Amino acid sequence: GVKSVVRGVGHYLPKNVVTNHDLEKKVDTTHEWIVQRTGIEQRHIAGEDEQTSDLALGAAKNALAAAGMDASEIDLIVLATTTPDRTFPATAALVQEKLGITQGSAFDIQAVCSGFVYAVATADSYMKNGLGTKALVIGAETFSRLLDWEDRTTCVLFGDGAGAMVLEAVPDDTEGDRGVLSNCLRSNGEHWEKLYVDGGPSLTQSVGFVRMEGKEVFRHAVGMISDVVEGAFEKANIEPSELDWFVPHQANKRIIDGAGKKLKIPADKVIVTVDKHANTSAASVPMALSIGVADGRIKQGDLVMLEAMGGGFTWGASLVRW
Ligand code: ACO
Repeated sequence: GVKSVVRGVGHYLPKNVVTNHDLEKKVDTTHEWIVQRTGIEQRHIAGEDEQTSDLALGAAKNALAAAGMDASEIDLIVLATTTPDRTFPATAALVQEKLGITQGSAFDIQAVCSGFVYAVATADSYMKNGLGTKALVIGAETFSRLLDWEDRTTCVLFGDGAGAMVLEAVPDDTEGDRGVLSNCLRSNGEHWEKLYVDGGPSLTQSVGFVRMEGKEVFRHAVGMISDVVEGAFEKANIEPSELDWFVPHQANKRIIDGAGKKLKIPADKVIVTVDKHANTSAASVPMALSIGVADGRIKQGDLVMLEAMGGGFTWGASLVRW
């Protein structure tokens, strides 16, 4: 059989940085409130002429460069987003076109903030079944397009960006135990009204705005995250104490701290970017991975746990030997 090994990661952020102090000028909020409740200090916001596919392309190019690979080698693109450029085609197909390639397959995944973990699990499963040999797995969002700037309980929490990972299928008796070791995915649609967008093509023929019961999301988050992380360790038959890096979805510092505490993961093994990026939905995990690799923390051979939870609810975790 084959397994999927990480060859490189990269990210791309729009240039425009909006600080909490900037937000104080247009929303009834304060820097102190936002930092205390969420850990967020700033976010990047895409310009009007920048679409999700543009951010995704930037991240994809950086990941390909890190992998030392050319786009012509890619035969699978799985892109997680909640903010596609258009209702269709899939943003993955637009990225394929922008990369100048026509081979293989490309499609989007919609699992909101859990999208990147779902995309890793999907690409991994596809390659194990012969549907691709070199994959670009992307999480990309222009989440700011879904924000109601009149609603201070949501608009301060999110940002835009993209992250990408190159996975390669290799015989599973090569490269030691490197690769995606296990994936654990869950959803429960009973919770959809706690976090949703109030528009869509079928419902309103428009995009709509994010609506959220923040306290309810918070109440469920830590338990759901812990379940899938423990599930991923169990499936891989690996002890949590062996973990080198915990790379959680970056929604809120208090949720990250709560999950780390419940899972007994020391704070110095947790990659945190929510202070600089805010919640970028499907882009947050691959951007955090890219930053952890770029600054030398995540190295080849390390055991890395990716985790996310979001709208649906959906939640999931992937354990990777880097
Ligand atoms: N600035 C100032 N005051 C605010 C703001 C703001 N931006 N937003 C809300 N408030 C006020 C409220 O109106 C309320 O005032 P009141 O007491 O006079 O009514 C007060 O602050 C407290 O509001 P709460 O909603 O109770 O605040 P809470 O401590 O629950 O924090 C938060 C809100 C940060 C949203 C929290 O519930 C949370 O983090 N939830 C998790 C949701 C999340 O992270 N979602 C991201 C998407 S899902 C995902 O990615 C996992």
